[in-house]
Amino acid sequence: MNEDIVTFADIICPKCRYMDSNKKYEYPIVLQKVFKREGKFIINGFFQCQNELCREVYPILMGVPIVLKNLNLWWASEKVKLFAHLNIPDELASFFQTIDIKNKIYQNEININSLYMDSHYGNLSPTSYESKSHNAYWQEIIKAIKLFDQELLNKSIDLGCSVGRLTFEKAKLAKLAIGIDMSFNMILAAVKIQQTQQITYNQKIRDNTYKRINFSYEVPDNVLFLVADALDPPFRANSFDQVSALNLLDNVSLPLILIQQMDALLEHKGNIILTSPYEWRDDICDQKEWICQKDKQSSDIVREILEGKFLSELQLKYKIITEIKKLDWLLRHHDRYWTYFIVHFIHAKKF
Ligand SMILES: C[S@@+](CC[C@H](N)C(=O)[O-])C[C@H]1O[C@@H](n2cnc3c(N)ncnc32)[C@H](O)[C@@H]1O
Ligand SMILES: [Zn+2]
Repeated sequence: MNEDIVTFADIICPKCRYMDSNKKYEYPIVLQKVFKREGKFIINGFFQCQNELCREVYPILMGVPIVLKNLNLWWASEKVKLFAHLNIPDELASFFQTIDIKNKIYQNEININSLYMDSHYGNLSPTSYESKSHNAYWQEIIKAIKLFDQELLNKSIDLGCSVGRLTFEKAKLAKLAIGIDMSFNMILAAVKIQQTQQITYNQKIRDNTYKRINFSYEVPDNVLFLVADALDPPFRANSFDQVSALNLLDNVSLPLILIQQMDALLEHKGNIILTSPYEWRDDICDQKEWICQKDKQSSDIVREILEGKFLSELQLKYKIITEIKKLDWLLRHHDRYWTYFIVHFIHAKKF
């Protein structure tokens, strides 16, 4: 975490904010302790809430701030995954992996890292020819985010940013680009890229065979990644002029709340970027929350929600700038196994 941009980022405590007779109470968290620095990056430390009645602390672990209302719940599911990022020799890692063959978490994390690192950065790799298949998707996304305002944006945030490609791209267009995700390992991978200016990952070739990908990637300084919940983002209302969420809508338990949270973060005339394949899954999101209808496609409903034509009680009023009805989004599991989604892309301006 780059210390220089923390104040500008203005992170608030998710635990003690509330609303009282139309007044919002939001308290900032500030750096309380730093245990370890590397150059301009804070590696380990604590944030603390400024509200005297709260004083909640939030850890910074391996350069990753974790700013969640319910740390206990998150820690119970995430701690075992941290093993995947221990910097230990492969042989030692396989030893631990075989101790509990049934526990696939370690292997899954390696595969997820390969999948998303390749999806975000594979097309930039000078050696990975097959990953060029991601080119078209990124060209469209980058073209669309540039299309909008000519002048520099102030603050931009990407929700569910995974390993960070869009956040880095948006940092070229904004004074500050923030990326948040619930996965510690994803955010750690993004933070490592920022610190080392290197893309390094094990790309899955087949079964247990991986190819080491390593190349340099110049990234700007004005980027902040943190573990935080897109359904309860630790930022002030109306404080961003761009909010994006790529392929997150069908990955959260409350998709409509996600749209409302995106709208709450956005200031007047800000712009929203949403993509989704609308692959609703009831293990992630209860069917009654799915944004779909028998006689209407999710893409039409989402567009109309933004335009205020559907669920008008949400009082959203957006003008569509760009809509791509079908954009190919590929995820590479290994050489012979790819997933192919057709996503809906929408870029709209708030009025
Ligand atoms: C399908 S992936 C998409 C990642 C990335 N935006 C992309 O398009 O490549 C969904 C991501 O959202 C993250 N995620 C899921 N629920 C979240 C939440 N409530 N808040 C923040 N991130 C979340 C997951 O960890 C995962 O990285
Ligand atoms: Zn607090």
